[in-house]
Formats: sequence, structure tokens, C-alpha cells
Amino acid sequence: MPFIDRDFINDLPNRVDIVGLINKRVALKKAGKDYKACCPFHEEKTPSFTVVPTKQIYHCFGCGESGGIIDFVMKYDHLSFVEAIETVAGESGISVVYDQTAKPVDKRFKRYNQIMSELNDFYQNQLKSSSEKNKVVSYAKKRGISGSIAKRFELGFAPPGWTNLFDQYSMNEDSVQDLLSMGMIVPKKDKKDDYYDRFRNRLMFPIHNAKGSVIGFGGRVLSSQDNPKYLNSPETPLFSKSKELYGLYHCRKFSRKIDSILVVEGYMDVIALHQHGITNVVATLGTATTPAHLQVLSRSAETIVFCFDGDKAGRDAAWKALKTSLPSITSGLVIKFLILPQGEDPDTLINKESAKAFNSRIEGAQTLSSFLIEHIKSKVPFDTIEGKTLFLEKSASLINLVNYSIYRQQLIEGIAHAIGQNIIQVEKAVEQSKTQNNQFESTIKSQQNKLNPGLVNKTISANSHSSVKNLMSRMISCVINYPSIVNDPETTSVIEERARNLPKSEVLVELIRHAQVESDLSKEALLLPYKGKERVYLRLQELSTMEPFLSEFEAKEEFGYALTAAEKYYERKSTKASILSAKTHDEEKAVMQSIMKSKLKKTNQKKSS
Ligand code: CTP
Ligand code: MN
Repeated sequence: MPFIDRDFINDLPNRVDIVGLINKRVALKKAGKDYKACCPFHEEKTPSFTVVPTKQIYHCFGCGESGGIIDFVMKYDHLSFVEAIETVAGESGISVVYDQTAKPVDKRFKRYNQIMSELNDFYQNQLKSSSEKNKVVSYAKKRGISGSIAKRFELGFAPPGWTNLFDQYSMNEDSVQDLLSMGMIVPKKDKKDDYYDRFRNRLMFPIHNAKGSVIGFGGRVLSSQDNPKYLNSPETPLFSKSKELYGLYHCRKFSRKIDSILVVEGYMDVIALHQHGITNVVATLGTATTPAHLQVLSRSAETIVFCFDGDKAGRDAAWKALKTSLPSITSGLVIKFLILPQGEDPDTLINKESAKAFNSRIEGAQTLSSFLIEHIKSKVPFDTIEGKTLFLEKSASLINLVNYSIYRQQLIEGIAHAIGQNIIQVEKAVEQSKTQNNQFESTIKSQQNKLNPGLVNKTISANSHSSVKNLMSRMISCVINYPSIVNDPETTSVIEERARNLPKSEVLVELIRHAQVESDLSKEALLLPYKGKERVYLRLQELSTMEPFLSEFEAKEEFGYALTAAEKYYERKSTKASILSAKTHDEEKAVMQSIMKSKLKKTNQKKSS
């Protein structure tokens, strides 16, 4: 049995979300500061099982069962202590530290928090004292940010210069490592121990976690001629874009009561709304809304209003958020959509209108069902029978994403009303689409199982041509979303070489090359060279939306597994071909021998490396 590091065990409950973890197993309902449910450990009709997040414990007033998250998981999942620790850590995206590991994780995290807080102070001080502060101060003023709001969000200034951070910390090797782990300095190409600062000459937005610790930064250029407009911290052990929401800490701190929460797209949107007294607002961090975001949001408020720009990109993003939301709808949760006029975002709009006018827009936000119906209608020739059929098919497959039965029924009624059919007809379509979905899903699942090592095992096989095509698509999708995964100087050349050896890998190899030049490339910039080749461009755009959404770490793993799987597929294919091409028994024997030889050689190579 492995021994888990003592400090790690002691610290784990403080690092995980007890409400989220229990809620995965037993549906919790908010009751004041706490959460309630019917007790999973004894029979009861009225809820007396309580989770107290402030104390990180659960307690049942009916049967007396109580404890912390590890106790709960041991009992509920029927696991041993070590297994429960591994489960809780795994579900929270934390790697377990075993005893033989030299550095206990909690010390590392303490250092990370410490250095991020120091950098936050540094940037804020630069806003007051840098010799170049005038341009950033006047920029902030131009954007209508008052001194007190700048202070509230701890805005700062990363001064010009390539090594401000590095120079401050270069004497201490541990600190340099921490800066690197936090993505605040970037290694220079081909020079191992030489680094430059990621953020230079930018207005800095610290990103806080829900507890208020700084876990990352966003930086905006001061002049429209510079780019990229925003630069963010990469994924780090403290910071995951798919889980964090900008402004959540401030929303909780500055709102008296959070009945509804507004989800916007940008840092400046959150800040401008606060400036006008609207504080129940958060922003995603340059990614689409993920299921993890929805979990946090639904625990924070009963109504979530997604706010998007009125352009095509905004509408597409809203539609994506709708699809992500459907499985999360539960009793008591209302999801709405606010699409702003073309060319406006919350920042520009609130500065034009009053807070009152903006609030009435929020009040008038469209319900999820109405947005769903309207959107599908706009995608089909609704006035024809064919159009209505398509409408029914599309909505039926979406209804199947909804788990909450009362809402499902409401949607079915809404759809029936929209096409003037009776409810039974719609229910039939929903059933039919479910069977189709199930077939589709089982194909996808079997592919995902092959791809995700955690789900089944580490031997991946790709049998059919279609799944090998799928592997190529997954690799491309991973690279487009996270160019940095192929930007590690130690491994890139090997990866490029391996990709080049695969048939039909030209586009993948090209993308890997582009990604090596600049790891912070935006998707748009990465795809720009393909604008002339319409078919490739459209396909790449399709692949740039990643379903399911993966964190950078997961994408890196998936990329690695897909690459190995594709190699294995072609290896097997060529083996089969040479065996089939053998005409005589002797030829067949020779082929087999040469295959065995090359296998042996490979195993020896692996052993020696
Ligand atoms: N974003 C990003 N990287 C970019 C552009 C945008 O991470 N290159 C993210 C940022 O979180 C930004 C959000 O997407 O706040 C919205 O971007 P955008 O609509 O382009 O900018 P605005 O928020 O309108 O920014 P501003 O008002 O400062 O121009
Ligand atoms: Mn804006």
C-alpha cells in the first residue's frame, strides 16, 4: 500500500470544495449559508443532512453521521482511507503526494501563493511609482475607471522592460522556479537558464480565486497598435481557466444579496459594471462556459444570466453556453440570456446608458427555452413542413440533454406549441432522438475510453479508418486550443518528427511548427495562414471548438495518447499489409521474422533510453 504524505493528507480538505464533491453524489440545496439534502445514510423524507462549507464538514441531525469530506467519500463510495484520499484529490484535479516525494505539495502551494501576492503588490506599486505610469493612468481614466474601483480590483501596471521580475528574483533559484511554474517568466528559445517576463507594458488585472488569493493575471495593452490585446496567465497548478471566474470574489464581497448573477465576457465588463453599482457579475477568462463554471454559478445564485455581444461570435457563444447549461438545470435554477445590441458590450453600453437602463435589460433577459426555440427557428426554413421537421429533430436532441424531468416536460410543451403539434408527437420525436443519441454516444464513448487513460486502461487501439481520422482531429483540436502543449523545447522536435511520420499529417505538422514560434498565439492567429484555403480553414475552425472542454493538462495527455494510438494503428496496418503481400509460405515466414526483429530492436531501444 502506498504511503501518502502526512502534510498532504492534513491539507487536502482545505484545498477541495466539499459542497461540489458531495453534490456530485447527493443533490444539495442551498439553505442559508449551508446546504441540505435527504440523508444518504438513512431513510428519511425531510432533509436533515447538512453540509457546512465554512467548517468543511457534514452532519446529519437524523442519524448523527458526521465528518469531513474524506469520511463522507469513504462511507458513500465504500472506499478505504487511501482510496478516498485518491478519489477526492483526483476529482479536484490535485495530484496525490506520496511519501517518497521530496517536496510536500502544501509547501509548494504556500510559496506559489506568496509569490503571486508579492507580484500583485509589485504591479500595484508600479501604477503609483513607475516613471512610465502616466500613460497607464491616463489610459485607465480614459476608460472611466475611478481610483476606488482600480483599488477594489487591485489593478496594476507591468512596466516596460523584459526582465523586471526576473531581475528581482534571479538570486533565488527556488523563486525563479516558482515564477516559471506560475507562468510569470518564459524561457528564451534555445537558452536554458535565461528567461523574460511574460507581462510587459500592460495594465494588469489580478485574477483571484473565490477565497481572494491571487492565482493568475490578465494584462491589457495600452495602445491599440500592440497585440495581443489581452495576455493571460497560462494554466498553472493554481490557475485553471475552465474552473475560475473573474470577479467571483468581488461579486461575493460587494453584493449584499446575490439573487442573480450576470456572466459577461471581459475583465473590463466586470469592472465597468462595478463602477456603475452592478456588482453581481463575473466573467469567463477567454474560454467558453464549462460545466465546472456552471457548478460554481449555480451554487452562487438561483438565476444565471449569460450576457453576450450581439455579433455572430456572441450569438455562437451564447448557443454554446445554452448547450452546456442544459444538463445542469435543476429545480430552483433559472438560466437566462441577454444578447446586447450589435457592436456593444456591457462596458460600452453601461457607459452610454444608465445603470437603471442596463438593469432593466437584465430584467428583460430571454428565458433559456425562448432563446432555444428562437435560435433553432432562425436556423431552419420554419415556414415549410421540412423546416418544421428539422426544427423538431434539432430540439428533440437538445431536450435529451436535460435531466430535470419537470423542465423537460415544459420544454416539450413549448416545442409542441411552437410547431402547432400535439405533445405526444414531440415526445415521440424525443424518444426517437434518444435512441439515435445513444448509438452515437456509445461510439463516442468507446473512442473516448480509448483516448482517456483514466477511464479504461493505457492500451489504446484504433481499429477503423474513421477512428484514426478522429485521432488526427483530436490532436489538431488540442494544438489549436493549447499551442503551448507542443511548445516544450525538450520534447517538441520529437513530437514533430513523430507527427511527420504519420500519413496525411501535413496540417498537424504545420500547426505544431507555428505553435513553436509563439506559445501564446490566439486561435485566430494560428488559423490565419489557412484563410486562403477555405475547406481546410472551415474544418480547422470546427476543430477549434473543443468538446468536451479539456484543461491544458488534460489536452496534453490526450494529445500524447492520440499520437501513440495513431502510430500503433499504422504500425499494425503495415504489418498486416506485408503479411498479406507474402505469396509463398517462405515469404510469409521472412516477413514475420523481420517484424519480430524490428519489434525486438524497439524494445531494446526503449530499455536503453
Ligand atoms: N481575451 C483574451 N485574449 C484576447 C482577447 C480577449 O483572453 N486576445 C479575453 C479577455 O478575458 C477579455 C475577453 O476575452 O476580457 C473579451 O475580449 P474582447 O471582447 O476582445 O475585449 P473587451 O473585453 O471588449 O476588451 P476591451 O474593452 O478592453 O477592448
Ligand atoms: Mn470592451
